Amino acid sequence: MTDIKTIMTLAPVIPVLNYKSAEEAVAVSKALYDNGLKVLEITLRHPSALESISAVAKALPDAVVGAGTVLTPELAKQAKDAGAVFGVSPGLTETLADAVKALGFDFLPGVATLSEAMQAREWGFSELKFFPAEVAGGVPFLKAVGSVLPDLTFCPTGGVTEASAPTYLALDNVAVVGGSWLTPRGQDGKIDPAAVGALAKSAVAKLGR
Ligand code: 3PG
Repeated sequence: MTDIKTIMTLAPVIPVLNYKSAEEAVAVSKALYDNGLKVLEITLRHPSALESISAVAKALPDAVVGAGTVLTPELAKQAKDAGAVFGVSPGLTETLADAVKALGFDFLPGVATLSEAMQAREWGFSELKFFPAEVAGGVPFLKAVGSVLPDLTFCPTGGVTEASAPTYLALDNVAVVGGSWLTPRGQDGKIDPAAVGALAKSAVAKLGR
């Protein structure tokens, strides 16, 4: 089992992936993986999401496939059973915190305020998603948190781009950023794997690791 702390060091960015089918998930994930992005967060926002997680985990056995938008204990269990090795949520409740600990499911819970960060810390989570990063205070917020809660490490997500990522990654309390900018949909509604490959290559070259 790879823990969240380690997972956060494996790439400079965790792509947030809103796939619409398992077929799309495998083709696009392969483009990300082949171009250096090994950690993939497949969100549970589409009926095919669990199938996508299983398909990508099978097609790319060396990728670190996680589930995003894990809102409930039921979704956490389903994601783990589907083959996700970690989960991400936009926020955290006591029920969800207890459930992921009981499941032994490595988890990156979302926080947007100091009180939420302190609560998550009390429940045993030191690695947190800062969401929605750009509207919840961005880099200045994380600098302020770092001065009072220096033991917490963040993955800022929400409005982060390749252009803004370096400023986040330069902070001592940021290990990785998350974002959906790597998988844009064209006018036809499709994600072009070749375009994704180019975006992934650029992100790895500019953001390092
Ligand atoms: C998420 O689920 O983490 C966000 O929707 C990703 O944010 P972005 O689309 O602004 O990158």
